[in-house]
Amino acid sequence: MAKISVIGAGNVGATTVQRLAELELGEIVMTDIVEGLPQGKALDLMQAGAINDYDTQVTGTNDYADIADSDLVIITAGIARKPGMSREDLIKTNSKIIGEVSRNIAEYSPNSIVINVTNPLDIITYVAMKATGFEPKKVFGMSGVLDTGRFASFIAEELKCSKKDVEAMVIGGHGDLMVPLPQYTTISGVPLPELLPDETIARLVERTVNGGAEIVGLLKQGSAFYAPSAAIVRMAEAVLKDSKRILPASAYLEGQYGQEGIYFGVPVKLGANGIEEILELELDESQSEILRKSSETIRRGISQLDI
Ligand code: APR
Repeated sequence: MAKISVIGAGNVGATTVQRLAELELGEIVMTDIVEGLPQGKALDLMQAGAINDYDTQVTGTNDYADIADSDLVIITAGIARKPGMSREDLIKTNSKIIGEVSRNIAEYSPNSIVINVTNPLDIITYVAMKATGFEPKKVFGMSGVLDTGRFASFIAEELKCSKKDVEAMVIGGHGDLMVPLPQYTTISGVPLPELLPDETIARLVERTVNGGAEIVGLLKQGSAFYAPSAAIVRMAEAVLKDSKRILPASAYLEGQYGQEGIYFGVPVKLGANGIEEILELELDESQSEILRKSSETIRRGISQLDI
């Protein structure tokens, strides 16, 4: 049976554990810096199993030794973005936290695959790769599955069709830096531009780009966690079942898309070895331009890091 550890028992972490437990994907360990928080939530989730019919073992702990020999580690620890706060404001605090978390992952679970969720996503994923010392293909970030989910949801609402039939594609950095790709977005195989006029697509793209901020603004405190946890579990499942799914992920680029040495959202093949392939799509000129700008912002963020 697989062992999955989730670092951070906050909104994103605990909801991820709930979804993983319900799917019986493996034994789960949930850790947090706050004493009692992961233990209390783990107990609650164990009891939910008796009602929801799952036998998943969920353990809460404040001790990193308990994550030993995990197959998959999901990082959700850190500070969530507050209203008015940019992802870049988070770099300092969260890179320090994730540096420490990553060194513990390397010590106790040296053979694990690591999915990072902590923001600013592409920069913190870089920190996790450097601080674990793992091969880049074993450390990647969750952002694109969430962003495509948001884009698909808005498209389905506009077309008044089922979300199940929408396959969206979004690449680039997470947040304001993403590049939704309408030409690679299909509804039961039909390209989006054949079903909606350009102005409508532009409006949906804009709402997708601001999708996280829209929710932050409504919640007043904290940020989204239902869709993020659903996105994490889709990626976790691809790794644990070695299913070779093609999903967007923040991956370490070594020349692809003209980029080197940064993490960036791109379509990848996901399996038991982590990122098994990076797919290169042809982009139009304006998309290439946004992508270049987006990568420069991430590069600047990385250059601010103290690692
Ligand atoms: N070690 C372990 N856990 C930590 C540490 C640390 N050093 N520092 C903070 N935490 C824990 C907090 O105690 C809290 O329980 O991380 C958890 C974060 O939970 P929330 O504040 O509820 O934040 P959440 O909404 O779950 O978001 C977590 O995911 O989507 C991103 O931007 C979001 O970076 C944020 C992360």
